[in-house]
Amino acid sequence: MWTRNALQEFISAKMAGIKFIVVANREPFIHTYKDDRVEVLKPASGMATAIDPIMDASGGTWIAHGSGDADREAVDEFDRVRVPPENPTYTLRRVWLTKEQEEGFYYGMANDGLWPLCHVTFTAPTFRPKDWEQYEAVNRVYADAVLQEAGDGPAFVFIQDYHFALLPRMLKNANPKLIVAQFWHIPWPNKEVFRVFPWKEQLLDGMLGNDLLGFHLRYHCQNFLDTVDRQIEARVDNERFDIVRGGRTTCVRPFPISIDFDEVNALAQSDEVRAATAKWKRVLGKRAEFVGVGIERLDYSKGIPSRLRALDDLFERYPQYRGKLTFVQVAVPSRQQVPAYARLAQEVEQLAREINFKWKDRGWHPLLLIEEHLGPVDMGALHRLSHYCVVSSLHDGMNLVAKEYIAGRPDEGGALILSRFTGSARELADALQVNPFAYHEIADAMHQALVMPAEERQRRMRKMREHVARHNVYRWGAKVLSELLKFEFPENT
Ligand code: G6P
Repeated sequence: MWTRNALQEFISAKMAGIKFIVVANREPFIHTYKDDRVEVLKPASGMATAIDPIMDASGGTWIAHGSGDADREAVDEFDRVRVPPENPTYTLRRVWLTKEQEEGFYYGMANDGLWPLCHVTFTAPTFRPKDWEQYEAVNRVYADAVLQEAGDGPAFVFIQDYHFALLPRMLKNANPKLIVAQFWHIPWPNKEVFRVFPWKEQLLDGMLGNDLLGFHLRYHCQNFLDTVDRQIEARVDNERFDIVRGGRTTCVRPFPISIDFDEVNALAQSDEVRAATAKWKRVLGKRAEFVGVGIERLDYSKGIPSRLRALDDLFERYPQYRGKLTFVQVAVPSRQQVPAYARLAQEVEQLAREINFKWKDRGWHPLLLIEEHLGPVDMGALHRLSHYCVVSSLHDGMNLVAKEYIAGRPDEGGALILSRFTGSARELADALQVNPFAYHEIADAMHQALVMPAEERQRRMRKMREHVARHNVYRWGAKVLSELLKFEFPENT
């Protein structure tokens, strides 16, 4: 069983004297001004939630974009700040981007190009040459920061996600002594879908600078191998899942990511969550006999409109829930500069108005739409008081909300309704699995969740809890690091 301590011991035994550098666009802590004070926030990011505990165990350096308006205040002259603020265990090195760079790199290429390309949710990607230029330029900004932080000694560089496809090759060219790994937190599409990407060769060549390349699922690894085989000069070994290009090997491996089960589980039993649960019950009112929840970023890959249509369908076809069930949808605003996200926000708000107008009744609302970021205590409370949680992603690499819901139910109550098209669905066979494109299936699953005998609900939840408790984020970290440790640093490093 991997725990935070076990991982910490593993790291100090095996990685002593080796620098550990993580690169991610999103920082784990954001400093912002609130009135005259500086406040520290944690972003709503699955990636940051997963990497933070590993950093904590490794005590390395996390390089990320300083996106908060007070971020510059908090760093020293080398742009570094020790975090977490209350009990520092590792270093955050901030990188500064211009408005144009952020626009082209983050909103443009990463989130209007690669995100829809990899998620395949019928939202067409947009490929602007100037975004690609900025993407390349920003990857170079990060390469400089990594090379500076790594210095001359042995270092592992662990790159996160689709923001940095070009970085591995840049690092290897500049310093072949580095051992470089990347984890791609979103799906990799099949080779037919990838064909539409205009800068295929550069992107793939950049990624093949990695020694180790991880995806959540074997299926995504296979898609990547097929894509490389089809698109560029390289030798693909489908047995070993290795790719050789220019005499160098990239190992492609699946590592299904997870959460800190113990932390979420413990928080769920805390006094704060108990108090917050009582508060939310008051907010929902006495008539909300049944409560469903959905909590995520407001992102078109999450299938929120489909879920709201399912709620409407539930009231149509199962009148027994009219006046009695309230669905709480927390939709954290995200990437609003990207037109597809702004359109989604409008669609979700309009649907919420329609549903509430159609079904509301004295003192009772069928839907509570909350468009703000909630902290872990409020999320824990909503998990605890709900009868079911809906994760209806149209496509998702893993989806950690599903795992958090399970960890947040130490009472073994609550049912999880889970899209078949999430990575989590492969592990959580005891969830009520649905096709998120078919809203009637989600509605039926909502009904099933509510009429399911208590013993069955408990049995399903217990099995899923056992699985997630064992397959936690520390195990994920240990697996990635063990794989990294198989690579040898060149002599005289
Ligand atoms: C996905 C990506 C993460 C990203 C998260 C939040 O889960 O895989 O890398 O952190 O979305 O998105 P944001 O753009 O706000 O960092």
